[in-house]
Amino acid sequence: MSARTPVIAGNWKMHKTTTEAHRYVNELVELIRGVEGVEVVLCPPYTSLPEVTALAAGSGMRVAAQNMHFEESGAFTGEISAAMLVDIGVSDVILGHSERRQYFAESDDDLARKVPAALAAGIRPILCVGESDEEREAGQTEEKLERQVTRDLEAVSGEQAAGIIVAYEPIWAIGTGKTATPAIAGDACGFIRETLAGMFGRETAEAVRILYGGSVKPNNIGELMAEEHIDGALVGGACLDPGDFSQIVRFG
Ligand code: 13P
Repeated sequence: MSARTPVIAGNWKMHKTTTEAHRYVNELVELIRGVEGVEVVLCPPYTSLPEVTALAAGSGMRVAAQNMHFEESGAFTGEISAAMLVDIGVSDVILGHSERRQYFAESDDDLARKVPAALAAGIRPILCVGESDEEREAGQTEEKLERQVTRDLEAVSGEQAAGIIVAYEPIWAIGTGKTATPAIAGDACGFIRETLAGMFGRETAEAVRILYGGSVKPNNIGELMAEEHIDGALVGGACLDPGDFSQIVRFG
């Protein structure tokens, strides 16, 4: 067992109204009462962030936004700044999810600005990286992971790095039911840790929590968590039901 506290984060993506969010959080709080030694992070859409931060207060759960802009303010219609998130009690932010990279053209240049902007505001980034099916087939997985990690974290200091969370989410495993085997996921997370060690030193790299994401379910979380370099999960589809998510929080 490593000294790293596991993290289970639920990415709701574009799901749930605020009314539904209210019911969900109240149910989840009951279902995971008494669970210790794991950090739970809820990542609802922007519209439900105030409601969810209020309901989660005192439960020990953290609340994350699914994106933010790197500027402090300005003429950026439709965007949200780090200060706006801090103001409503948000503690974390998912950055660089593959859906943002793929459908909204988010680039490593954007992320190299978003990560330090979040840190400067006191928000913990959950940086997502991962290869596509074609990249894996072409043997380019490590090259892709190394490029994303080094570029996206280039403006981060060694001191800040230990507090960042990295999520390895192979694009081919997201929403497909095709979970990476524990060995594949564990190897990729180990490679990410080596990359971090090269950038920030061994001690810092050992402190960083690295999550796996991609079709995580109650019946596969246990074997994934048994991997040395997997410190938790970023869950999509299976987090939408409080019963399933609470089982994942208990590692199955
Ligand atoms: P699924 O769990 O639905 O595969 O989604 C994973 C994900 O993208 C979490 O951010």
